[in-house]
Amino acid sequence: MKIFKTIPEIKNHLKELKKEGFSIGFVPTMGALHKGHISLIRKACLGNDKVVCSIFVNPIQFTNKDDLLKYPRKVDSDFQMLRENNCDILFFPDTKEMYPEVEDTIYDFGHLDNILEGKFRPGHFNGVAIVVKKFLEIIEPDKAYFGKKDYQQLAVIQALVKNFNIPVEIIPCPTFREDDGLAMSSRNLRLSENERSIAPHIHKVLLQAKTKAATITAEELKTWVISEFSKYHEFKLEYFELADPDTLLPVKSLKKGQNCIALIAVYLGNIRLIDNIEIFY
Ligand code: PAF
Repeated sequence: MKIFKTIPEIKNHLKELKKEGFSIGFVPTMGALHKGHISLIRKACLGNDKVVCSIFVNPIQFTNKDDLLKYPRKVDSDFQMLRENNCDILFFPDTKEMYPEVEDTIYDFGHLDNILEGKFRPGHFNGVAIVVKKFLEIIEPDKAYFGKKDYQQLAVIQALVKNFNIPVEIIPCPTFREDDGLAMSSRNLRLSENERSIAPHIHKVLLQAKTKAATITAEELKTWVISEFSKYHEFKLEYFELADPDTLLPVKSLKKGQNCIALIAVYLGNIRLIDNIEIFY
């Protein structure tokens, strides 16, 4: 695996590969890699001649300083996992390389970045959009892979690519789960033993909510979800919403033939976890 830390170096290398006709798949990450990331790398390997992964903990997408400081960093094991899974190129820039000057671009994604995550983490998606646009311009991949666990992020990136006519195919990938149902996330590493043992409750509630959604209104479902999380004092529910899977606008009640997505954000101790489940009739 070739490792590049600067933009000119990786651009030159990719220019040569593209000249030779190789297609490029791209998997952006913030490191602390887990099986979910690796599933994206594997998918990218199957769909492209060469795979580029980036590891960059993007400071401007963090709305909480403590979260940025405590974000897990596991460089050695990340490199090893990438090598073992046939990643061809790692882009591993530092903050100066990505942001030589103060970055103050503001993108407008309409309602998309003001609802759900956007309401609780103002500026987060702007930070994600800035870094992803930079990466797509540096790497110019044919395909870029994003997990559906960050469902709203995926929607923002699809809007970004459409708004700026960026010539890349965005490939949504299924959420990867632990055996007990907990959605894989680098933040899971920060859960205490007790918190980790009750964390699967999130997915269990979502599975039950999926069944209940057929018979009760979104408001009733929300009340039920709130009561489920009040069973453990360790949880603090931030939001649970039923939304249209394309627009992410709220869905009040499910009609036959309507698809929707249930999205949730919950604090477990100090750790904020998100998850979602698709509800298709
Ligand atoms: O999903 C993530 O890990 C990050 O938001 C991303 C897409 C790598 C941008 O920093």
